[in-house]
Amino acid sequence: MQTKILMVCLGNICRSPLAEGILKSKIDSSKVFVDSAGTGHWHVGDEPDQRSIAVGKKYNIDITHQRGRQFSTKDFEDFDLIYVMDNSNKENVLALAQNDSHREKVKLILDEIFPGENVDVPDPYFGGNAGFENVFQMLDKACDEIAKRL
Ligand code: 4NP
Repeated sequence: MQTKILMVCLGNICRSPLAEGILKSKIDSSKVFVDSAGTGHWHVGDEPDQRSIAVGKKYNIDITHQRGRQFSTKDFEDFDLIYVMDNSNKENVLALAQNDSHREKVKLILDEIFPGENVDVPDPYFGGNAGFENVFQMLDKACDEIAKRL
């Protein structure tokens, strides 16, 4: 059976599309399904932010086909693991959880490389290109760990 992993941020245009693309590049798609979503509704149907597209392209990861969608309660049933980018995303997702099985699926993605340190992937939306490079490098390392354990 396929393991189903969902990457979640706020807008689903900057961080989680990169997390989706990076993890997809490291796994066997017949064994692992990867998707992403945002807790907010503002960018439903939008393509990823041009700065995320650019940093992905720099490392041969094409995310241009992705379109924004909003996280919903159904995702707790459809996915085995839900990786959130920051503590605010975690609060927003946990607020929609209906039972312990749902809550146990939710993990802060940087716990994969900094266990128990509660580190956020910083939201790069209002910053410059360097923020996107930084996000890429963090997510690349975290996705290496995730892929290694699958
Ligand atoms: P993301 O970044 O959560 O990494 O996709 C954001 C994108 C858009 C907004 C906020 C964060 N926004 O407020 O529109």
